[in-house]
Amino acid sequence: MMNDPMTTAKAHANLALVKYFGKRDVPLNLPAAGSLSLTLAPLTTTTAVAFDEALKEDEIVLNDAPASAAFAKRTRRFLDLVRDRAGVRSGCRVRTSNNFPTAAGLASSASGFAALALAATRAAGLALTEPELSALARRGSGSASRSVPGGIVVWHEGRAADGSDSFAQSILDHSQWDICVVVGIASEEKKAVGSTAAMTRTATTSPYYPAWIDACRRDLALAQDAVVDRNFTALGEIAERSALSMHAAALAADPGIVFWTGTTVEGIHLARTLRKRGVEAYFTCDAGPQPKLVCLSKDVDAVKNALETLGGVLRTITCRLAGPASLV
Ligand code: DP6
Repeated sequence: MMNDPMTTAKAHANLALVKYFGKRDVPLNLPAAGSLSLTLAPLTTTTAVAFDEALKEDEIVLNDAPASAAFAKRTRRFLDLVRDRAGVRSGCRVRTSNNFPTAAGLASSASGFAALALAATRAAGLALTEPELSALARRGSGSASRSVPGGIVVWHEGRAADGSDSFAQSILDHSQWDICVVVGIASEEKKAVGSTAAMTRTATTSPYYPAWIDACRRDLALAQDAVVDRNFTALGEIAERSALSMHAAALAADPGIVFWTGTTVEGIHLARTLRKRGVEAYFTCDAGPQPKLVCLSKDVDAVKNALETLGGVLRTITCRLAGPASLV
């Protein structure tokens, strides 16, 4: 039984339109280039934290069951960052759950470390600014920096060696644009190569890696302009080519990294067919096979119906923009 109250925070998953795929500093998760993402509802991680001097060891529960050794280790290492910063030495109780399947290919590590960063810093008596919190969440997983702010988010490449200027910031509030994402669940299997390892292999062996990083910088600037202008066509075209370029760089690694299945490729063609029919949908995809189609809310039913009839798509999840990580 616990007597001490727990501090609870929630954070949403995010989907990159200009992808992060390469680091300039691996231990600090500093990106080789900036990225741009959508913070997405309803995909949420809720995390409760309490520091307790009576605890000899951290106690970590994921989705109502004791966490795996790998998950617990990653969580403990992150808690150590918070303990160091707050001068706290006690053990920690963490209870975390996701309202979406890990297999959705919507990196639960992003919403997970964002929620943990907020709950753990508050439980340890720290009150960080949003940029500080984002930079801290980044240490858990790079993309977690982008799940701290809401709406449309830019994660800055930064220059500082300590990473203090590599944090994410909202450039548009979630209420300001009705962008939607329909995620096609193509496979519930665990991905063959994790994103961290895939990035390292691509950076060290793909002949296209330098060109990919140059493209990220160009696309980030153009995507920011498209958001300011609310130009969905421009943003969608940038998103589709950023995803295809990232995968092209990974495909050219040695050995080649193929996240796609036939269903993923069908998803690319589907987006193009829909556009020919006047439904503005753009393809994107991350370190897994799930095809994700970005559209405006007026087209979401057409996109969902089309994706659900695609061979190999088991079901879909429809998402819209969400607000920032917050205390519950
Ligand atoms: C393909 O943030 O999961 O989803 O920083 O090594 O934890 P680490 O990687 P992670 O990478 C996400 C990669 C991506 C593209 C993106 O979200 O920008």
